[in-house]
Amino acid sequence: MTRRIVLAGGTGFIGTFLRQRLAADGYEVVLLTRSPIQNGGEIRQVPWDGQNLGDWKTELEGSHALINLSGRSVNCRYNEKNRREILESRVDTTRILGEAVARAVSPPPVWLNASTATIYKHTFDRSMDEATGEIGATREAKDAFSIDVARAWEQVLSEARLPATRKVAMRTAMVFAANHGGVYRTLRSLARWGLGGPIAGGHQYISWVHEDDFCRAVEWLINHNDLSGPVNIASPNPIPQRDMARIILHERGMPFGMHATRTMLEMAAFIHRTEAELILKSRRVVPARLLASGFQFHFSNMEDAVREIETRIRGRASMDPILLFHTHRRALG
Ligand SMILES: NC(=O)c1ccc[n+]([C@@H]2O[C@H](COP(=O)([O-])OP(=O)(O)OC[C@H]3O[C@@H](n4cnc5c(N)ncnc54)[C@H](OP(=O)(O)O)[C@@H]3O)[C@@H](O)[C@H]2O)c1
Repeated sequence: MTRRIVLAGGTGFIGTFLRQRLAADGYEVVLLTRSPIQNGGEIRQVPWDGQNLGDWKTELEGSHALINLSGRSVNCRYNEKNRREILESRVDTTRILGEAVARAVSPPPVWLNASTATIYKHTFDRSMDEATGEIGATREAKDAFSIDVARAWEQVLSEARLPATRKVAMRTAMVFAANHGGVYRTLRSLARWGLGGPIAGGHQYISWVHEDDFCRAVEWLINHNDLSGPVNIASPNPIPQRDMARIILHERGMPFGMHATRTMLEMAAFIHRTEAELILKSRRVVPARLLASGFQFHFSNMEDAVREIETRIRGRASMDPILLFHTHRRALG
């Protein structure tokens, strides 16, 4: 019997590689999306609006798991309109999914809901795990809005009364992946232009996870009945931003990257219509619960993760059909 996974918000950056992985591992994946395409291949796309119950809720009946990745991108200026959309797109989708699961006759036994490693306090001197990590905003990190969103998001999940469904809040760190749309592509293009050096001293910690480990953690969480509540999905080795910069510059073959001050970053963030907090906040998050449950990371160190991703990106570039065409033409004279 095929095991159906309902994946809300699975059309975005993470959803794109997660749904491929789940399908390759034999799951039937059904996407809930506001813009379904009919010819989406073997992965069915079902319309929903992320706010109201609809026919989509029948997909949950007898399903193996529900995963919710919905949320307006945080890569924007935090003006009033964007703040509202960032908050509501997370809280509303979580609430309506909770209602749908509560009404299901045969609900999914597990629901993994996106959350964020940003929920933890801006910190340099100690690691944040699920049991001892501190939650809260600081003036230095200017992260009050992000913390409010994360808290509200997790609260809606925890308040859903679902006796037959185990709930997990995935406190995910920055996901490093080869495809476009994620933070790694931005970091590598900065390095290419010699701009990827230490920022504001570079002491702030970066928590990150390789896409392969993220997908493996998702399947692990689906299959481990003893894990519920908040779970950090981050490599066990967060590192200072200046060390991350050095690793990416090295892999990109760049001799150095320009140092940038906090003011320079804030100006660049303004011009690029994003927020400096995304890179200035120190996130020193460790995956204590995953490790305690026996999960083993394939990519614990950033050097290995970056090297693997770069190898794939370069491989893709050399497979580019236009490049191949020109190479063949040159070879034929
Ligand atoms: N990327 C990371 O490194 C990272 C790290 C930690 C946590 N997260 C969290 O993980 C989740 C997925 O991240 P991602 O990078 O894949 O995000 P993404 O690329 O922005 O995709 C999120 C999906 O959410 C849906 N969505 C957007 N606005 C919505 C709205 N107003 N109402 C309902 N659905 C909406 C979209 O699906 P449709 O347009 O098809 O409806 C979109 O494909 C997010 O909640 C994010 O906060 C991401």
